Amino acid sequence: MAIFSRCFVLLSFSFSFFLLASASSEADILLSFKDSIEDVSNTLSSWSNTTAIHHCNWTGVTCTNTFPQNVYFIDLQSMNLSGEISPSICQLPNLTNLNLADNLFNQAIPLHLSQCASLETLNISNNLIWGTIPEQISQFQFLKVLDFSRNHIEGKIPEGIGLLNNLQVLNLGGNLLTGSVPMVLGNCSELVVLDISQNPFLLSEIPADIGKLNKLEMLLLQSSGFYGQIPNIFEGLKSLSILDLSVNNLTGSLPPIGMSLPNLVSFDVSQNKLFGPFPNGICEAKDLANLGLYSNSFNGSIPNDLIKECSNLERFQVQNNMFTGNFPSWLWSLPKLKLIRAENNRFSGEIPDSISKATQLEQVQIDNNSFVSKVPQGLGLVSSLYRFSASQNKLYGELPPNFCDSPVMSIMNFSHNYLSGGFPEVKKCRKLVSLSLADNNLVGEIPQSLADLPVLTYLDLSHNNLSGPIPEGLQNLKLALFNVSFNRLSGRVPLSLISGLPASFLQGNPDLCGPGLPNTCSGDQSRHRTANLSKLTGALSSIALVFVVAIVAFGVYVLRQSHKQKSQMDAWKSVFFYPMRINEHDLIMAMDGKAARGDGGAFGQVYIVNLPNGESVAVKRLENFRSQSFKALKTEVKTLAKIRHRNIVKILGFCHNDDSLLLIYENISRGSLGDVIRKPDSQLPWTIRLRIAIGVAQGLAYLHQDYLPRLLHRNIKSRNILLDADFEPKLTDFALDRIVGETAYQLSLASGSEKSCYIPPEYGHTKKATEQSDAYSFGVILLELVTGRQAEQPAAMDSLNVVKWVRRKINLKNGAVQVLDPKISQNCQQAMLAVLEIAVQCTSVVPEKRPRMSEVLKALQSINSRNSLASKELSSSGESSVHF
Ligand SMILES: *[C@@H]1O[C@H](CO)[C@@H](O)[C@H](O)[C@H]1NC(C)=O
Ligand SMILES: *[C@@H]1O[C@H](CO)[C@@H](O)[C@H](O)[C@H]1NC(C)=O
Ligand SMILES: *[C@@H]1O[C@H](CO)[C@@H](O)[C@H](O)[C@H]1NC(C)=O
Ligand SMILES: *[C@@H]1O[C@H](CO)[C@@H](O)[C@H](O)[C@H]1NC(C)=O
Ligand SMILES: *[C@@H]1O[C@H](CO)[C@@H](O)[C@H](O)[C@H]1NC(C)=O
Ligand SMILES: *[C@@H]1O[C@H](CO)[C@@H](O)[C@H](O)[C@H]1NC(C)=O
Ligand SMILES: *[C@@H]1O[C@H](CO)[C@@H](O)[C@H](O)[C@H]1NC(C)=O
Ligand SMILES: *[C@@H]1O[C@H](CO)[C@@H](O)[C@H](O)[C@H]1NC(C)=O
Ligand SMILES: *[C@@H]1O[C@H](CO)[C@@H](O)[C@H](O)[C@H]1NC(C)=O
Ligand SMILES: *[C@@H]1O[C@H](CO)[C@@H](O)[C@H](O)[C@H]1NC(C)=O
Repeated sequence: MAIFSRCFVLLSFSFSFFLLASASSEADILLSFKDSIEDVSNTLSSWSNTTAIHHCNWTGVTCTNTFPQNVYFIDLQSMNLSGEISPSICQLPNLTNLNLADNLFNQAIPLHLSQCASLETLNISNNLIWGTIPEQISQFQFLKVLDFSRNHIEGKIPEGIGLLNNLQVLNLGGNLLTGSVPMVLGNCSELVVLDISQNPFLLSEIPADIGKLNKLEMLLLQSSGFYGQIPNIFEGLKSLSILDLSVNNLTGSLPPIGMSLPNLVSFDVSQNKLFGPFPNGICEAKDLANLGLYSNSFNGSIPNDLIKECSNLERFQVQNNMFTGNFPSWLWSLPKLKLIRAENNRFSGEIPDSISKATQLEQVQIDNNSFVSKVPQGLGLVSSLYRFSASQNKLYGELPPNFCDSPVMSIMNFSHNYLSGGFPEVKKCRKLVSLSLADNNLVGEIPQSLADLPVLTYLDLSHNNLSGPIPEGLQNLKLALFNVSFNRLSGRVPLSLISGLPASFLQGNPDLCGPGLPNTCSGDQSRHRTANLSKLTGALSSIALVFVVAIVAFGVYVLRQSHKQKSQMDAWKSVFFYPMRINEHDLIMAMDGKAARGDGGAFGQVYIVNLPNGESVAVKRLENFRSQSFKALKTEVKTLAKIRHRNIVKILGFCHNDDSLLLIYENISRGSLGDVIRKPDSQLPWTIRLRIAIGVAQGLAYLHQDYLPRLLHRNIKSRNILLDADFEPKLTDFALDRIVGETAYQLSLASGSEKSCYIPPEYGHTKKATEQSDAYSFGVILLELVTGRQAEQPAAMDSLNVVKWVRRKINLKNGAVQVLDPKISQNCQQAMLAVLEIAVQCTSVVPEKRPRMSEVLKALQSINSRNSLASKELSSSGESSVHF
């Protein structure tokens, strides 16, 4: 018995000794790898032989769950690491995956990693890797995933790349490669993803052997200096799902596509010099051609089993080429299709009625082609369609009565066609922002129902044969553009449409009358009476409105009160990112006694709380949001709290219980930009306004492009820009969607301010936040700074928001100068006009036309440097002091 147990002890001792030995040696390997790395942010602090943490639990290290554990994944992405990538790491026998992406490694390609016997995935994307790809790249033969993207790699792609025959993912995008892409790439027969995009110095044809890659799912060659004809590759690329050849110098006609791409989801050859007719197919069955679809003599519906093959295509982009011939008509009825862009070509053909089968279709742009077609009934049946522009074609016939029935329709452009007949009533597209029917042959009256579209902003009906009066109701829409020039309209022009808009928008209608027009109207008296009557109803309805609002507000108040009492009993948890010598109870007590600051915005009230040490913090109270687990919440808030930027307010900590969250921000002394603009006598000098604009742009560009994870602000308005003692702006209320969750965020946004002019028009249909939506809101801020007007004038019925006001004015002669804030515009008109120009671009109704925040920032900075040069030359008077 004794012997047995002794034996056992011995055994287990030697076993654990073995364990220790293997563990410590893997730890040593990791430590020696760390030795050559510079870790300025000290993110690898857990990598140490003095802590008790097992190396499998070190930051970024993952081990197998076998026994003994071995390191197999090292993920050091986004840690500001630099120094040397040491080959010592290859002593880890089971290392399969090494991710060093998004760091600052500044060296040649670490070929020595080819000694790592089990390495399968190497990601060194987005570093400062330089030099050429050596021929010895072939030593990486065992690799399956190689990501060198977004570095400074130059020179030719060597032939050796063809020997990487296990490779499934090869990403060389975003580098400085030159020369031509070698044919042998076609030997990497396992490739699933091939990305050579964004290499502007390449000068290459597309190697025909790429067509041998029958497992390839993504072929990304966009923006890379590819020229010449596209070789006959499609028939071999049987698995292709995403093809992007856009923005190159490709020419000639497309090779046959046949029925070879059944999995295709996205097809993009836009912005090249391709010409000729579009080949049959992509993914359709051969028989479709026989049915006469191409000649448009087909008049039945397409049998389902025939389109089954093409059923995955979602995006089709061929715009800005020189294609001719019939547009592939089967495309119009694909069940998953979302996007068609074919503008600026010479396509002909018809838009078939079967477009109604494209039940997911969202966006169609076929402007500037030669489509000869009626506007089909089927168009109005596609209820997901939010943009349809077909200007500059040969569309003829009448607009069908349902042409604008899609409930999400936002932009419609039929200008410069041959449409005739009447203008149907428009009722259902209540999200319509922009409608252009200019330069057609429409007759009859402008329908009254246009006045019922609540967000209609741009309406261009010029150059038609419309007659009758301008509907009185249109003046309530506060249109930013209303062009009815060159029709045959008659009668009195509603007053606010005369006063606010340039006369040129009314010209060419000899029978219109009103003040300022060549004709004055007769019979004013009877009209006065109706006007008074409508004023009275207006007044009555606004009284009713006030009443309803009061009732709702009271209800909310009662709910809040009962809620408050309940929530105080729940347990609070708190996390402070700064030492604060105050606990959650003190905070809540301090808040209960106080009035909230300002209106707090859609997501909750803001309170200023004095801390015992004399400092103060701003506390935002978010109530009733269904959020994630405490752990997930903490991670999200931490993500935001880690942001360090001088134009972004710091988050100091948070407390939360079951239904409330208190976010604690640093308190910024001067209050918000909104408060400053609202003061009637505020006179911020231009230099300060420009500095504010630059600061805000810096903060946003940081969130969009530099911070990881990339963030969107989503709630930019002048009230959310705080000013410190030096008028340095700081963004607050950013990225709350990450904390409250997308659903709650959207609800809250919808309840608060759907019609807020900071929210871009496309938000009505997409509900998707993008950099471009932030850019729009920023444009509104710029307009406030340039004009000195608040974005939204409170209450008064006939006031325009700043976007519409500016849009109207700048169409007038000298209008741009007139919108500038007269209190300050004497000495800095040029700079202010330049900023106005940027603001107008940012607030474009078309999202793609808005610049990125980094571009805006550059532009503002260059205006600023010109500005400060000029003011140095003037130098004399000095800035007037700031008044509020
Ligand atoms: C990386 O360095 C930049 C600039 O020094 C700093 O702002 C950022 O917070 C650092 N990121 C991490 C993850 O440490
Ligand atoms: C920790 O590692 C360093 C160098 O890597 C070595 O000098 C030191 O002796 C080690 N300490 C322990 C306790 O193993
Ligand atoms: C790593 O940490 C987890 C919990 O933090 C622990 O359960 C696990 O045992 C640790 N692993 C090792 C190998 O020490
Ligand atoms: C780890 O590597 C060793 C040595 O190459 C090998 O024997 C072992 O099977 C590997 N373990 C795993 C889980 O791959
Ligand atoms: C490499 O890392 C970058 C940065 O996180 C990531 O975007 C990319 O998808 C990774 N590459 C591969 C092939 O997984
Ligand atoms: C590519 O493959 C072909 C045959 O499949 C072979 O003849 C050729 O040598 C290979 N090229 C390279 C560079 O491996
Ligand atoms: C196309 O070629 C012209 C010169 O022939 C060059 O200037 C241009 O940059 C090229 N475009 C692209 C997208 O590579
Ligand atoms: C179109 O319909 C007519 C009458 O229904 C029929 O005679 C004709 O054959 C059809 N054309 C095609 C191409 O199916
Ligand atoms: C119309 O498209 C052609 C190419 O087909 C292009 O050359 C022309 O510039 C386009 N016109 C406009 C106004 O964009
Ligand atoms: C409508 O199309 C015309 C001609 O292509 C263009 O000039 C105009 O800007 C478009 N309108 C809108 C609102 O996009």
